Amino acid sequence: MKIAIAGKGGVGKTTLSASLARSLCKQGERVVAIDADPNNCLGRALGVPEDVLAGLTPLSEMKEMLAERAGTNVGGSFFNIAPEVEDLLDKFGLEHDGITLLVMGTVDEPGAGCVCPESAVLKALVRHLVGLPDLSVIMDMEAGLEHLGRGTAQYIGALLIVSLPTSAAARTAARLARLARGLRLRIPGVVMNGVSSSAELERLRELLDGLEIVASLPRDESVSGSEVVPESGVYVEAVERLREELSKWGA
Ligand SMILES: Nc1ncnc2c1ncn2[C@@H]1O[C@H](COP(=O)(O)OP(=O)(O)OP(=O)(O)O)[C@@H](O)[C@H]1O
Ligand SMILES: [Mg+2]
Repeated sequence: MKIAIAGKGGVGKTTLSASLARSLCKQGERVVAIDADPNNCLGRALGVPEDVLAGLTPLSEMKEMLAERAGTNVGGSFFNIAPEVEDLLDKFGLEHDGITLLVMGTVDEPGAGCVCPESAVLKALVRHLVGLPDLSVIMDMEAGLEHLGRGTAQYIGALLIVSLPTSAAARTAARLARLARGLRLRIPGVVMNGVSSSAELERLRELLDGLEIVASLPRDESVSGSEVVPESGVYVEAVERLREELSKWGA
């Protein structure tokens, strides 16, 4: 499974990314969880200890290494558009409970179609990981669609959109889907998070502009009560079902 998780701020992207990564790992998959949000919350949600996280440098801050890979240190502004990235996962991935965490950090973008070395290397890395068989990749994106515009997510193949069960959020999800389709990303559908009744879902379906609801995840106090995503409970069970749906869909 190779999937990026997008949506408005605070809808539950990081929680779902961590839970889906855990669910895949439990199935025996080799999983890379990419934190592509500059706020770096995915490690915490996966239960990586605070002191380990504090000692972790996001990839985008390793400017020298990135510049070297991109070739900017040899000859000014021209750089290698196919930088060597094969070893980056082994070197900079953090192993925790069987999941490899990769923290991207912030990529400064001077405008659409960023050509900075950070962006070139990170894009190449995502493309490389997505191309590897026998590896699942879950990418937790920052709110909005900046990453799509920047191209970091363009190779990921499938974009899962998370929404809250409100009219405004459903309309935003439909808009995100339109933008993402314009970028040729495949969309399994929207995940409605924090749903309390099926009647609620029917009403929202009309606002989704044909976008399918691939799962509805219940509100679960054991999720909101802890920074680390719980190992069991109604939320986790719903994510297990979502994983099965996504596999059938071919994510
Ligand atoms: N199904 C749920 N039941 C209860 N609480 C939830 C559920 N899903 C998410 N939460 C809680 O909602 C809050 C926001 O979730 P999360 O951090 O995953 O959102 P996000 O979309 O990643 O936010 P951001 O845009 O800031 O990165 C967290 O406190 C999380 O524990
Ligand atoms: Mg988040």
